[in-house]
Amino acid sequence: MSTLVTGIAELVTNDASRGEGALGVVPDAALVIADGAVGWLGPAREAPAADRMLDVKGRAVLPGFVDSHAHLVFGGDRAVEFEARMAGRRYDGGGIASTVDATRAASDDQLRARLRALVAEMRAQGTTTVEVKSGYGLTIDDEARALRLAREVTDETTFLGAHVVPAEFAGRRDDYVELVTGPMLAACAPYASWVDVFCEPASPHAFDGDASRAVLEAGRRAGLGLRVHGNQLAAGPGVRLAVELGAASVDHCTHLVDADVDALAGGTTVATLLPGVEFSTRSPYPDARRLLAAGVTVALATDCNPGSSFTSSMPFCIAMAVREMGMTPSEAVWGATAGGAAALRRADIGHLGVGARADLTVLDAPSYRHLAYRPGVPLARALDV
Ligand code: NIG
Ligand code: FE
Repeated sequence: MSTLVTGIAELVTNDASRGEGALGVVPDAALVIADGAVGWLGPAREAPAADRMLDVKGRAVLPGFVDSHAHLVFGGDRAVEFEARMAGRRYDGGGIASTVDATRAASDDQLRARLRALVAEMRAQGTTTVEVKSGYGLTIDDEARALRLAREVTDETTFLGAHVVPAEFAGRRDDYVELVTGPMLAACAPYASWVDVFCEPASPHAFDGDASRAVLEAGRRAGLGLRVHGNQLAAGPGVRLAVELGAASVDHCTHLVDADVDALAGGTTVATLLPGVEFSTRSPYPDARRLLAAGVTVALATDCNPGSSFTSSMPFCIAMAVREMGMTPSEAVWGATAGGAAALRRADIGHLGVGARADLTVLDAPSYRHLAYRPGVPLARALDV
């Protein structure tokens, strides 16, 4: 069964050879979907016939957003902590412990219901692929459980046993790293595609460069791809470690020295920026312009989590990236689609070429520019074809 999508005022392909600019924009476009993939795209007047038609009536169509960084398996919430931050309290990751307690206390069904509700919330805002991390269990069983649940909703699952040192290991960080790189990794790897670590020597709760290296190398030996939380609270070793080890992405990148930017520019690691964190921790935003000027591949993601960024909205992140981080609307939309796909090393999503997955997002607006031009307005939704 093939479907011809018509009435597309503006089609973002992310293929510069198909249309205008880096987004490869085709005006007055049509698109054919067959067997879950793009079969044809081009100007509407050249569209072939198909089994059925779907008229989007003058709306813009984009590749679905790829949210390459989210923590969706958790119990409880931290609205009170957020309120305290808005009154001046600093964020240092210490609140993660309260989510760990609530997550351990939650049943599978409670965690699953929350996870599914958040994925649905994302889809309703245009996200068609989401990465989901563990990291609020921090025991062998609780981490494996989080990943098993995450696997029910996405293939992009990430083992983040090295999120923080849990309370029962206080003062015994090395012992915890041994657990994470040994039996916990062994129990979690069957449900994970990626390993991640909160590399942040500036946080008393997270991990320094040596511990982070140990976690990443162990994950790699277990067959996992590498991702890093780095340089969120202060400059540190995270970014250069990620590039050295060939991680797919280093996320946050809020505090960078020139050597970090140079390393990213010379490597294959994507810099994923998470403006929801700066918004929700009242911190200075990362400088996307500096990275783009150096030729670094920049992705945008929500970091949806109950502590530092409880938003599921890629459009909100796009608007912040444009207003606060020096990105153009075109760069921000690319970062939220093709950038996210690059951060997950996926060639089948994040663009709309022939053969790509038919993951479409439609806007109640005629142009992608409206995502930043009309902040906070619910314009985007994933299109059910
Ligand atoms: O990406 N940086 C570490 N982890 C999460 C925050 C988790 C939390 O505060 O619960 C982040 O910001
Ligand atoms: Fe995160």
